Amino acid sequence: MPKLIVVTREGQESTVEGEAGLSVMEVIRDNGFDELMALCGGCCSCATCHIYVDEAFADQLPAMSEDENDLLDSSDHRNDTSRLSCQIPFSAALDGLKVTIAPED
Ligand code: FES
Repeated sequence: MPKLIVVTREGQESTVEGEAGLSVMEVIRDNGFDELMALCGGCCSCATCHIYVDEAFADQLPAMSEDENDLLDSSDHRNDTSRLSCQIPFSAALDGLKVTIAPED
């Protein structure tokens, strides 16, 4: 299974395996990182699944929808690498992707 590297808010880095086809949010949540709230369950309406994505993978990620962009705008912690993890399907192409859980808003 492809691997995902997750960095917590405290800076602790772990490597987990994720099933292709799940969203990055589901991979993070299913591996027990409960600081990623993902309150809306992945319907792109809460922004509590905010992550920062390794720039090396920027061109492998799906384009951001207008809804995702608007929601990220509501965060005080948005930066150039911000994404909502529920909007990124995990896949073999993303093997080794490193994501950092963004601070809570
Ligand atoms: S889980 Fe709510 S926007 Fe991603």
